[in-house]
Amino acid sequence: MASDHVLIVLITFFLLLNLSSGALTVQFYRHSCPQTETIVRTIVTQHFTSDPSIPAGLLRLHFHDCFIRGCDASVLIDSRGGHAAEKEAPPNLTLRGFEIIDEIKSELEKQCKGIVSCADILALATRDGVALAGGNFYALPTGRRDGTISNIEDVHLPGPSFSVDAALTAFTSINMDLSDLTTLLGAHSIGFCHCGFFNERLYNFMGTGFPDSTMDFSVAQSLRSTCPQPLQQITNTSADPRIFMDQSTNSPFSLDNSFYHGVLSGRSVLQLDQELAYTDVTSTMALNFSRNKTLFLQRFSKAMIKLGNVGVLTGLQGEIRQNCRAINMGK
Ligand code: HEM
Ligand SMILES: *[C@@H]1O[C@H](CO)[C@@H](O)[C@H](O)[C@H]1NC(C)=O
Ligand SMILES: *[C@@H]1O[C@H](CO)[C@@H](O)[C@H](O)[C@H]1NC(C)=O
Ligand SMILES: *[C@@H]1O[C@H](CO)[C@@H](O)[C@H](O)[C@H]1NC(C)=O
Ligand SMILES: *[C@@H]1O[C@H](CO)[C@@H](O)[C@H](O)[C@H]1NC(C)=O
Repeated sequence: MASDHVLIVLITFFLLLNLSSGALTVQFYRHSCPQTETIVRTIVTQHFTSDPSIPAGLLRLHFHDCFIRGCDASVLIDSRGGHAAEKEAPPNLTLRGFEIIDEIKSELEKQCKGIVSCADILALATRDGVALAGGNFYALPTGRRDGTISNIEDVHLPGPSFSVDAALTAFTSINMDLSDLTTLLGAHSIGFCHCGFFNERLYNFMGTGFPDSTMDFSVAQSLRSTCPQPLQQITNTSADPRIFMDQSTNSPFSLDNSFYHGVLSGRSVLQLDQELAYTDVTSTMALNFSRNKTLFLQRFSKAMIKLGNVGVLTGLQGEIRQNCRAINMGK
């Protein structure tokens, strides 16, 4: 009898614990909205069919979301009145994929009103994008809740000219390590990059008046033909030309270990990416990944799951947003 009582107390305790906070779980919506993951996958796949660059947009959006205030969909919130949201910050430059998240959200609201968070939608859509781009499909823990705060002042992302050390410091602040950094940067095997993020490497590296000598000559030449020397700082990124992140193979939308081949052959676009070749542990890891794509894709999925856990809200924290672009009324 006494042990029954203890058991009930314990069960109640763990139920409450689970509600108020706690870990994410795979298939969190299996009872409350079982069609969730199918709907997300269907809509992402539809978009991917007409635009193979969609996974890149989603992946970067998810990273920016998780890096700032945790994976709470704060990156999706629009500015309102005089309040500037995260997405107004300079590094947002051409973040993309917002419309896809909106489309999934509106379908899910039709079928299961108020159940599925925008943070989970973004994380799931990214997971599906990774698989569509050629990465592994991984079971993604869900149960994230949406945040209610998005401030432009909170955006302190690592920059493209950061050293590996400086980027590592930024990653450490969200409990990610050097291996996570090196592995996740492999995402730069897909998608676009605007000239403004690396132009100085082509013309005037660190004020020397010369190109970055670590960049492969033919890559530099080809990038210079697309990226003219800017006469002044480009403020309108939509007017800035863009190139493929992957300059080492002919697979701009295929998530593979081409990023590491690029690192090892001076074909990285961003300075930070190229510096992986000149740091002890990261250069060995790049070599390992360049030799074994399976190894890279496995580690990448693991690192994505870890990224997706950063600073999540669970249980009764935050809210389930009705519209991914705005916090609910009355908050
Ligand atoms: C750690 C430091 C990082 C820096 C400095 C960095 C920097 C950048 C920059 C400057 C761009 C070009 C954006 C544009 O011109 O539109 C970019 C694109 C991209 N980044 Fe990163 N990134 C970092 C980490 C990551 C991580 C961790 C991921 C994913 C896990 C990621 C995924 C991507 C993707 C997929 C693109 C292509 C986006 C597109 O095609 O729209 N990045 N990144
Ligand atoms: C990014 O920030 C700029 C201002 O820096 C803003 O004009 C633009 O609308 C933002 N982009 C998105 C997608 O919100
Ligand atoms: C930025 O450039 C794009 C493409 O050239 C143009 O359509 C848009 O009007 C420009 N925006 C601003 C604020 O100048
Ligand atoms: C690279 O691979 C070797 C051989 O499998 C392993 O011993 C080493 O720990 C790996 N290094 C890194 C940094 O991944
Ligand atoms: C590549 O990595 C996978 C996954 O870790 C491993 O099972 C396989 O043995 C590796 N292949 C080679 C050729 O080292």
